[in-house]
Amino acid sequence: MTVTSLGSAAEEIRSRCNIVDVVSPLVSIKRAGSNYKGCCPFHKEKTPSFVVSEKKQIFTCFGCGKSGDVITFIREYYNLSFPDAVRRLAAQYGIEIDDAYDRQTKKKEVYYDVNKSAARFFFDAFTKQANPGYDYMKGRGIQPETVKKFGIGYADEGWQTLSDYLKSQGKQEEILVELGLSSKSSKDGRLYDKFRGRVMFPIINTMGKVIGFGGRTIIGDAAKYLNSQESYVFEKKRNLYGLNLSKEEIQSAGYAILVEGYMDVIGLYQGGVRNVCAALGTALTPEQAALLKRYTKKAVLCLDSDAAGIKAAIRGCDVLRDAGLDVRVMHVDDGKDPDEYIKKHGADEFRALLEKTAQTDVDFKIGLIRRKYDPEDLTQALQFLRACADVLRKLSPVEADLYIPKVAKIGGISEGALRREIETPSKNVPASPPPRRNAEEDAQTRESSPVPEPDESLVMLERMLIKLCMQRGDLWPEMKGYEEAFVTAQGYRISEVLGELYRENTDFDPKAVRERLEDEALVYFDRIQEEVLTGDEDEAFRDCVDKLDRRRAEKRIRQIIDILEMAEGEDESVVTGLMRELADLQKYIKQGERKKE
Ligand code: UTP
Ligand code: MN
Repeated sequence: MTVTSLGSAAEEIRSRCNIVDVVSPLVSIKRAGSNYKGCCPFHKEKTPSFVVSEKKQIFTCFGCGKSGDVITFIREYYNLSFPDAVRRLAAQYGIEIDDAYDRQTKKKEVYYDVNKSAARFFFDAFTKQANPGYDYMKGRGIQPETVKKFGIGYADEGWQTLSDYLKSQGKQEEILVELGLSSKSSKDGRLYDKFRGRVMFPIINTMGKVIGFGGRTIIGDAAKYLNSQESYVFEKKRNLYGLNLSKEEIQSAGYAILVEGYMDVIGLYQGGVRNVCAALGTALTPEQAALLKRYTKKAVLCLDSDAAGIKAAIRGCDVLRDAGLDVRVMHVDDGKDPDEYIKKHGADEFRALLEKTAQTDVDFKIGLIRRKYDPEDLTQALQFLRACADVLRKLSPVEADLYIPKVAKIGGISEGALRREIETPSKNVPASPPPRRNAEEDAQTRESSPVPEPDESLVMLERMLIKLCMQRGDLWPEMKGYEEAFVTAQGYRISEVLGELYRENTDFDPKAVRERLEDEALVYFDRIQEEVLTGDEDEAFRDCVDKLDRRRAEKRIRQIIDILEMAEGEDESVVTGLMRELADLQKYIKQGERKKE
């Protein structure tokens, strides 16, 4: 069946999945009375206190207290966001979610499929018959196993070879053009191949999908490397070449080596240094750094030792450091790049070189400054000092402390002078912008559970409470422990501000509150301020708190009833405790009702 939203998928799952079927392959549970019982997967235990109720379709652990429905279970078990847990269960139960996400995924598959066919075609052309691409790569020492691993291919010099082939396979012209495999002639409307006379390197993402290509000319084309244009499935800034093959090696080595080019990745990998990947012919981006950070917290930049390589290293250091990675920079001294080096010296010597030359990003930068300005020269000494201070200022105080004595020594300056320079704001660099959240975090927040629309009456209650506390600051302390009253994001933000003001002993003056609020919360606050309250404030406040207490009690009652049904065979005292709590809560609710009548 097909549903059109995550919400309806969740409902469908709740009505169709049997929690016992979902849990039992993952946790060993045995029938115990009308329930199932086993050792809790969420905390360590020897005697089972994890109970699943087929009737209630919930699980609960009498040990750690976790409980919930089938979706909660999958979320907790696999540590997924709500949407991901729903999608996982939906797929398992044949529920199609025809939402934007799903349509996008399907469209992407069509594009991936075209790229895959192209990669296959290039690979066959490279491996199945004699061709100049193979001769070229053989000349560079490529081994058959490497060709297979990286899916290396050949695009011949013809103008329509690939386009004709893909069309014959029923692929859509528009997609070939969009993927940058072909271009459409404005004269005759025909498709022409974009990659000609090139060795082809498919770019494969960590999910194993061919997202684009890099092609190296072997006929002396002006562009040495041609990369696929950005497309629906190819975003250069979010991918790293080779990571699909090297991610496990990076994890086990505990660090990644970042190189400049396709051939450097391939050369090192073939040579036996496999924890390697490369940015795609662009400067390293924050998104790439975030991607790498999923696999390791340490990166070694190994770039060409020409001017361009050094420039790239400086930028790369900052991007990686901002992403929270531990950064080192190494130098290839013999041969222009890592590919040439390893071919000449082998993996062991490459690793030894890494050990010998890898410096921290800070040492690397100080070294460059040292080369630029001579601290012995009086005029340059000040520039040296300032440039070093600019580097050290970006570090945490603890880290800066590690470098200060060293830098002072190199520059022949006093530590005190250096410290003072670091403490004065930089003249050449603008004040640093607020720390950017990295791209990965952004993606995660976007995908986290959709905030459900809060119940109308709860929103009313929230507004009322804010209004009352603004009028009567002395009521605020009584809100302590009622965080659940703030159900909207804006209301919650306002409550934070009120909390701050209270702690600072500042009156709840609307102006003071407004100063601390931003965007939507401010609009929301202003709307609340416009409302007029009549009647006794104390009484109104009591009423609100009563409502909150009752909601709490009702929720807990429902929970206890469910849990009690599952408590069969549990310790007698657990059951009596729950029963007593239940009776008290019910009495409390009844009293409230009587009072109302
Ligand atoms: P290099 O010019 O250093 O090439 O470019 P290389 O890797 O040493 O290549 P070989 O050994 O001559 O084959 C490094 C990287 O910069 C990008 C490519 O990603 C390349 O691997 N590049 C370079 C381009 O995108 N376009 C170009 O024209 C050149
Ligand atoms: Mn090279």
